[in-house]
Amino acid sequence: MADGRRKSAEELRSARWFAPDDLRSFGHRSRLMQMGLGPEDWEGRPIIGILNTWSEMNPCHAHFRSRAEDVKRGVHQRGGLPVELPALSLDESYTKPTSMLYRNLLAIETEEQIRSHPLDGVVLMGGCDKTTPGLVMGALSAGVPMIFLPAGPMLRGNHAGKVLGSGSDAWKYWDERRAGNIGPEEWLGIEGGIARSYGHCMTMGTASTMTAIAEAMGLCLPGASSIPAPDSGHIRMATECGRRIVDMVWEDLTPDRIVTPAAVRNAAVVAMAMGCSTNAVVHLIAMARRARVDFGLDDLDALGRTTPLIANVRPAGKDYLMEDFYYAGGLRALMHELGDRLDRDAVTVSGKRLGETLEGAKVYNSDVIRPLSNPVYHEGSLAVLRGNLCPDGAVIKPAACDPRFERHEGPALVFDSYPEMKKAVEDENLDVTPDHVLVLRNAGPLGGPGFPEWGMLPIPKALIKQGHRDMLRISDARMSGTSYGACILHVAPESFVGGPLALLQTGDIVRLDLPARRLDMFVGEEELARRRAAWVQPQPRYGRGYGWMFSRHVTQANEGCDFDYLAAEFGPAAGEPDI
Ligand code: FES
Ligand code: MG
Repeated sequence: MADGRRKSAEELRSARWFAPDDLRSFGHRSRLMQMGLGPEDWEGRPIIGILNTWSEMNPCHAHFRSRAEDVKRGVHQRGGLPVELPALSLDESYTKPTSMLYRNLLAIETEEQIRSHPLDGVVLMGGCDKTTPGLVMGALSAGVPMIFLPAGPMLRGNHAGKVLGSGSDAWKYWDERRAGNIGPEEWLGIEGGIARSYGHCMTMGTASTMTAIAEAMGLCLPGASSIPAPDSGHIRMATECGRRIVDMVWEDLTPDRIVTPAAVRNAAVVAMAMGCSTNAVVHLIAMARRARVDFGLDDLDALGRTTPLIANVRPAGKDYLMEDFYYAGGLRALMHELGDRLDRDAVTVSGKRLGETLEGAKVYNSDVIRPLSNPVYHEGSLAVLRGNLCPDGAVIKPAACDPRFERHEGPALVFDSYPEMKKAVEDENLDVTPDHVLVLRNAGPLGGPGFPEWGMLPIPKALIKQGHRDMLRISDARMSGTSYGACILHVAPESFVGGPLALLQTGDIVRLDLPARRLDMFVGEEELARRRAAWVQPQPRYGRGYGWMFSRHVTQANEGCDFDYLAAEFGPAAGEPDI
């Protein structure tokens, strides 16, 4: 960095393990020798941890096994010693009940692996939805220099001459299949064509959103988050991560110098301009809190009102996918387009200020990355609602829903559990109109449990058959970033802990007023008091294990769903014994 700070070899954190002439260090050194290393491998060299979320249960990270070798090559080139450590993979595809249940577990694992090992700096390898916030949250708390290596989006999907987008097209074609318009053979073709390479989902889902946020926050090499996973540029980027982290150690470029209030704000502006996943809200707040940056729902809503959505990437954008976004210039081009809306003095892992890293960036396709004068949507991707149904907030993605829902009033159709709702929506004789407001509760952080992505509630078959594809829906769940529709999510406090959503009944009138950012139910105070007195809290979901701990410590959606005891200072735990 410009301040010219430079660490000496004696000041390396790992020197505490390897330098002293004592019995403990003898043990540490002899164990490196057990692995075939000698003093020339470690003496005076930063030790770089490569936290790798590779797993055969995570197709998005299938290339991480070899990418770790590419990182090591870079570390060696700069004179560091790379060591690869496995980290919880948190695959979005298979983890039940939801990978969100385990984001904080990855954060804890990341922090403690760094804290307990002789690491001077770390490269974090992630990308599939929760891996990015989990790794970043943990590394922020650990405080050693870190760089985030994004997995990169997979290639565009393809079937029968049609482009397919992760998630979004699965929902879309599933509705067509339910309507009887798609047969088994075509369905199999879609199954085989929608995920054609390694890499994370290539719509603007949570993965693409979170890696862009990590880059905008200054934690990735410039442009890194847009490179498709199978592109040879991705390999070169991985190797550069290896080189750069060694330099960052010598420069003592710790994350507290990068993740400042300005960096968090930059990340939020970029998220809005990208058409971000609603999940960004929860993760951004959690990451900011780990960095002791005061940032919340109102900040996001304010930025949402003033930041145009300019990335024309599905599902909020209409036509394109991340591969197109990369060819159009990628995140650097988008950030360049945002001009003074970003704090260009923010420091990044590159050692340069954000403004310098954007020099020369160009948009090569102005339909994919739109100019501010011709946005996809005049406002940002998210809006935060309040009202008597959600006193601590709820979120909606206005750009991904039909404008006719901006002001909507209708009777509630309420379900207490997902299975109950699923059964009802398949009933072709269900008593439901397009004006109804479909409601699912007990789907929040504690109720879900784990805050599952159930929020894009399925449209009742009775309406699908009539040609309807959207209706107003409300839940205390999240939804996949690849989802779309008039879905109000993250209602807080959640119904499971007695939030007002718990008191809503089928037939009550609910009103959304998006321009006024209001969500209310029209039920008299007396009636509400009567219902509250009669409300019985559901039984806890877990009697033991991680779920039990999660239930005791997870915070609500508006607070980022981190554990209450983890939002703490950078740096080592107080009283850490030097043994
Ligand atoms: Fe991994 Fe979507 S399943 S990013
Ligand atoms: Mg997802």
